[in-house]
Amino acid sequence: ENYISEIEAFKAKSKEEVEDFRVKYLGKKGILNQYFAEFKNVPNDQKKEFGQAVNNLKTAAQDKVQQLKEQMESKEEEKGIYGDLTRPGEPVEIGARHPISIVKNQIIEIFSNIGFNVSEGPEIEDDWHNFTALNLPEYHPARDMQDTFFIQTNPDVLLRTHTSSVQVRYMEENKPPIRTISPGRVFRNEAISARSHCIFHQVEGLYIDKDVSFADLKQTLLYFTKQLFGKSKIRLRPSYFPFTEPSAEVDIYWGLETETDYRITKGTGWLEIMGCGMVDPNVLRNCNIDPAEYSGFAFGMGIERIAMLLYQIGDIRMFYENDMRFLEQFKSSI
Ligand code: PHE
Repeated sequence: ENYISEIEAFKAKSKEEVEDFRVKYLGKKGILNQYFAEFKNVPNDQKKEFGQAVNNLKTAAQDKVQQLKEQMESKEEEKGIYGDLTRPGEPVEIGARHPISIVKNQIIEIFSNIGFNVSEGPEIEDDWHNFTALNLPEYHPARDMQDTFFIQTNPDVLLRTHTSSVQVRYMEENKPPIRTISPGRVFRNEAISARSHCIFHQVEGLYIDKDVSFADLKQTLLYFTKQLFGKSKIRLRPSYFPFTEPSAEVDIYWGLETETDYRITKGTGWLEIMGCGMVDPNVLRNCNIDPAEYSGFAFGMGIERIAMLLYQIGDIRMFYENDMRFLEQFKSSI
């Protein structure tokens, strides 16, 4: 019994110590062999008990030696790993920012350079902020322009169809001058195809102050397209939005600028990139801003469409498929 507790308490620092331990118990002249030699002298009635005790001691010693050997080996392995300082490093995988985030951040930076802040709002909206305040009263036919996902009707709760809802919230809470852009996810009940998706991202902008004119709008958009695309040919086509008057659609001229332009310019010519216009006086009134004192402009664009142009991506669905082969291509972008 004393031996057993001695065995259990034993700790070895080196392979040599383990070997000494093995010889002491299990060697030819070791403690165990001495006991086995003793066996013939034990009186018959004690033989059984004696034999069991010696066998127990033997297994304890064998187990301990095995255990110590394993310990020593794993110690050596560790030494091998940490000891060799010339060992090549483990590659650390770095992720890539998603192209939607890259483009969103670029747009935010361009507008923050001319004094716009960033505002955000809820994705689940009420009827007032998504429609009514934006000059789209109930039963207005223009509501059909935006295929809405309803969560609840009467009172209506819905997934916002544009981030214009954030602009309404911002006007309700802030006094002019207002310069804000609202990036965010929007939802429309549309068939999914290469060109459109039921979930996408927008950045909408709003500028309200005294004497803001359509010329200010045009110059702001010109500055923006120059900064983002490096292209400065845009045109404003008359259009209709319930919340702006007059309204326009913005096209950018996308063509081969030089003969050496290497980009695969899939779509060339005039490409539509956003909607814009002067904020309708009704909208200002709905948000407690006096249209006699203030005027302003608003614009809105889809981030996917812009990213598709910038990176020449042919299918909007690629943004949401999480295909590493696609995402990895943006590693070098910030
Ligand atoms: N809210 C419009 C849309 O989602 C875009 C827009 C914003 C148009 C502001 C004009 C002014 O389609």
